[in-house]
Amino acid sequence: MIVLGIDVGGSAFKGAPVNTKTGRLLGERHRVEIDSPCPTAQGLAAARAIARHFDWRGPVGVGFPSVILGNQIGVVGNLGRNWEHQNGAALFGRATGGKVKLFNDADAAGLAEMKFGAGKGQQGSVLMLTLGTGIGSALFYRGRLMPNLEFGHIPWHGHPIERFASAAVRKRRDLSWFEWTKRVNLFLAVVERLCSPELIILGGGVSKKSEKWLKYIKARAKVVPARMGNDAGIVGAALAWEEAGR
Ligand code: BGC
Repeated sequence: MIVLGIDVGGSAFKGAPVNTKTGRLLGERHRVEIDSPCPTAQGLAAARAIARHFDWRGPVGVGFPSVILGNQIGVVGNLGRNWEHQNGAALFGRATGGKVKLFNDADAAGLAEMKFGAGKGQQGSVLMLTLGTGIGSALFYRGRLMPNLEFGHIPWHGHPIERFASAAVRKRRDLSWFEWTKRVNLFLAVVERLCSPELIILGGGVSKKSEKWLKYIKARAKVVPARMGNDAGIVGAALAWEEAGR
């Protein structure tokens, strides 16, 4: 099946048509920069631009950075509060002209890593974490997803822990890779107390530079970088569309 996957991030919307059998993009991904926070109208215009770029009228899977219950957007940490509690599938459907299904962005990225990337064939408990503007989390057991897990929102000194350990914090605070990884290790220690995964996959843009930080990571579980890089969100949004259709 071919689905247009759109990955909604804190700094850009990215999308491409995806072959859900192979996990391959069928064209170079199209990226539209957004403001931070991103007003709803601007985000929907970005989604429209991606659909138009590919002259797309078919199914659209959107990976969105919040809890998604049904088609409803939940609390939004990093995009802007004006998105909250809206019917996201209807909004994106009007914007793109396609039939839209909406999923949490980390759940979508996790699905892609489990099917085509670092989690392929893993039957135990696998935790996918995406380190970007925020921190996303997706937990799998025997290949099945437990959706809408929000480990990035674990309270840490009165704030969500993603404001302490995300990749954006490293840049904003100009932390060395070592300093930042110490923060990630604290986060992993909390997470391991809560769910004891056998494998942790670390994704997000930083997964492309794992030679800089992986050596400093300390955890009980085996930790590996995501393999699909930035495409995981796009491929996963398309896969999730197909899974939800079953
Ligand atoms: C959101 C999550 C999302 C993560 C990564 C967090 O702020 O609450 O739903 O998965 O950012 O984008």
